[in-house]
Amino acid sequence: MKIGIIGAGHIGGTVAKLCANAGHQVCISNSRGPESLAELLKELGPNVQASTVNGAAAFGEIVLLAAPWRTLEALPSPSVISGKIVIDAMNPYAPDGSVYELRDITATEKTASRLPGARVVKAFNTIWSENLRTLGTPEEDKRITIFVAGDDADAKATVAQLIGDMGFAALDTGTLRVGGLRQAVGSPLYNTAMTLEQAKAALASMP
Ligand SMILES: NC(=O)c1ccc[n+]([C@@H]2O[C@H](COP(=O)([O-])OP(=O)(O)OC[C@H]3O[C@@H](n4cnc5c(N)ncnc54)[C@H](OP(=O)(O)O)[C@@H]3O)[C@@H](O)[C@H]2O)c1
Repeated sequence: MKIGIIGAGHIGGTVAKLCANAGHQVCISNSRGPESLAELLKELGPNVQASTVNGAAAFGEIVLLAAPWRTLEALPSPSVISGKIVIDAMNPYAPDGSVYELRDITATEKTASRLPGARVVKAFNTIWSENLRTLGTPEEDKRITIFVAGDDADAKATVAQLIGDMGFAALDTGTLRVGGLRQAVGSPLYNTAMTLEQAKAALASMP
């Protein structure tokens, strides 16, 4: 598959590496332009190229959002992203490390409202980048879980397939509203490395 990535830091860079290792084609972007990613490209190998935010979004059949949630300039133009599967890995942290209070909407519903027509799936937001970098495995019974939430079943299935390609197990937490709350910062699913069995048990005990 062709994967566009916005944000080339801990999460974006790690997903780029894992996708490229799995044989996918990747186009990655950051705030400073493709030239600033030359060193990273050397590390990531021939399956990865760099572009602008809209260039990476146009490239991807799937587009990962891995920049700060509050940074609206990091979002691609709706015309570029409409109809595409968009993975929102972003958590709604303020610059001081506190979490924004969103009242009647979840963070990824807010992202989806900013990208009309995109098929948004919330995933990769609960896993620490270092666990993502190191814990993938081809041994299915030893895999760590990456949670997925969304309102588009086909989009979730495609993202689950990608997660499997990267050596992790996907577990569906529900809609963007219900699953989004279950995957929110501070929830029992957040930042805890769990096998699929452990993750299913944790999910079953949640409202
Ligand atoms: N770190 C984790 O373990 C982890 C886990 C799960 C989810 N997340 C979420 O993933 C997102 C990224 O976190 P991170 O830890 O990977 O952050 P990071 O290492 O600081 O990387 C952030 C990336 O976003 C890019 N960026 C910032 N503003 C941008 C803009 N206007 N346009 C395009 N790109 C822009 C930065 O590019 P420049 O360097 O050029 O500014 C950088 O490549 C956050 O929303 C975070 O909540 C993080």
